Amino acid sequence: MSLKKHLCPPGHANMGLGLLAMAGFMAYGFLLIYLRDFAPGKEAWVAASASGAHFEAKLAHVHGNLLAFLNLVIGYLLIQLPYPPKQARAISVLALLGLLMPIGILMEVLWHVPPLPVVIGALSMTISVAWLGVLTLTQAKNPAFSKNH
Ligand code: HEM
Repeated sequence: MSLKKHLCPPGHANMGLGLLAMAGFMAYGFLLIYLRDFAPGKEAWVAASASGAHFEAKLAHVHGNLLAFLNLVIGYLLIQLPYPPKQARAISVLALLGLLMPIGILMEVLWHVPPLPVVIGALSMTISVAWLGVLTLTQAKNPAFSKNH
């Protein structure tokens, strides 16, 4: 049995997991509201918003939503446009790995995990976006890409 049969087409996992990741990082926004407005010691938390745990907690929220959204955009393009399948799969996997960045920031805040996942995620997403950009430009003369013009 081939592995291919079990994999969804490139782009679907980015959209599904991107939506779920965004829901998770949005829900986490409610925790940020609690910490800022209601938690015991909220004054100290607010006063230290530009450094330390508060800053990193915000960084995870903002990048989590951004990288989830990037997965939605990348997934949508991979589904809609006829990119070469092998490159589309690699770009899709790299974009998913990008989610390691905000998850890694959270793990750093919560458990003092070293920032390796953050670096891997950031590099993966950067390569994914750059690769998709170059690939899109090289497809400019492909009639399947410009069928609506
Ligand atoms: C796509 C969805 C979202 C995006 C792109 C987003 C983005 C952002 C950005 C850019 C900031 C500013 C960070 C800073 O000041 O340095 C922020 C802060 C914040 N967001 Fe969101 N957000 C989203 C959803 C939500 C939701 C659903 C909630 C609440 C349920 C929420 C709660 C907060 C809170 C409380 C802060 C302030 C954090 C603090 O200063 O401690 N966000 N968000």
